[in-house]
Amino acid sequence: MALTRNDFPEGFLFGAATAAYQIEGARFGGCGSSHWDSFARTPGNVAGAEDGSLACDHYHHWEADLDLLKDGNFDAYRFSTSWARVLPEGRGKPNPEGLDFYDRLVDGILERGLKPFQTLYHWELPSALADLGGWENRDVAQWFGDFTEVIDARIGDRVARIATINEPWCVAWLSHFLGVHAPGKRDIRAATRAMHHVLLAHGTAVQRLRARGRDNLGVVLNFDFCDPASNAQEDWKAADLNDQIFNRWYIEGITRGAYPPELLGALAPHMPEGWQDDMGLISQELDWLGVNYYTRHIHAADPGAPWPATKQVEGHLPKTQSGWEIYPDGLYHFLMRAHEETGGLPIFVTENGMAWDDRIENGAVPDPEREAYIDRHLAAVRMALADGANVQGFFYWSLLDNYEWAEGYEKRFGLVHVDYETQVRTPKASYHHLARMLERR
Ligand code: FCB
Repeated sequence: MALTRNDFPEGFLFGAATAAYQIEGARFGGCGSSHWDSFARTPGNVAGAEDGSLACDHYHHWEADLDLLKDGNFDAYRFSTSWARVLPEGRGKPNPEGLDFYDRLVDGILERGLKPFQTLYHWELPSALADLGGWENRDVAQWFGDFTEVIDARIGDRVARIATINEPWCVAWLSHFLGVHAPGKRDIRAATRAMHHVLLAHGTAVQRLRARGRDNLGVVLNFDFCDPASNAQEDWKAADLNDQIFNRWYIEGITRGAYPPELLGALAPHMPEGWQDDMGLISQELDWLGVNYYTRHIHAADPGAPWPATKQVEGHLPKTQSGWEIYPDGLYHFLMRAHEETGGLPIFVTENGMAWDDRIENGAVPDPEREAYIDRHLAAVRMALADGANVQGFFYWSLLDNYEWAEGYEKRFGLVHVDYETQVRTPKASYHHLARMLERR
């Protein structure tokens, strides 16, 4: 039987998520240059060397895009406010057009009866700050705190919930160790510093916003299920080490004020001096936690390879267009784990979704794979609710097909298809599926 709203607790919020650089069009409205602009323009970094300069041209289509949320019977919208749009040089003089844009956007969200969920950093670090070392420079925490106050002074009175950073693992490890995202570094010292500074920036923002009286503060962490390739003890250890790198560093830094000891031991030579003194700021109390979940990976020991001496092994489950295995049990696992780790804090699934090579056929976009993906992950949420997790909402990633970072525009995650030539939006079957489910009867 199809799910309905009534299968979830009263007040449970359903929403869809986006991020500034992926949809807005960075060339419009006085937005400053970010490290994603230059990363994308460097051959070999992004499929087709595509960038976010036009993206979904949401800067001009935002009203119609918000109508899609309202017409889809959603309750909430998760969006991000671009640092480079608000402060084109990263610091100093704000861009009035940028502030006006977010002001209108928040009013537009509220006018449609939706709750605004703001993310302060979804990856577009201003180039002027990248020039100064970006996430490797300890000062980034204060720069971020300053930005946070500027945007909060304009819209903070009207947003329902504020998340500081989106996916610290991506900001740090994916971007400074694996080199897959901007700034494309592959350097263990740079990665270690970014791993600490991203949490320091989170803590600084929380402190600044608390001082402004905010009581709706959280962070959005991404979780990846780490399975061992075999029952051999070495493979279990490989999975465990990857769990520390991907998952535990961030949530335990924030909830316990301590990093997982084994991983910390390996990274100790690269940690910035005096890091211990920051752990109190990093582990301040939060009001909620955002959980992003997509997939699992399977890990094996890789003896003889340099640290971390592990490798990924191909899994056998059905995969999405991104090659990610579909594994809803992982969502249940992390909701329960986050519930325990945070001592029962309100949890929102802030991202969950899949890419598929969706095509328009006779004016419609059939995507039964996505409908099934959503249903199976919502079933995992219901299981976690039944087992006591304090989950209060679910946001599908993403409202629109958009700029999927290093993958360019080819990977389509949206509930709504975007034709990038014409900017025409076509709701997919999954959008109608959710709209029916969320109808208030
Ligand atoms: C997450 C990002 C989001 C999007 C999805 C597919 O890691 O937060 O911007 O790219 O993956």
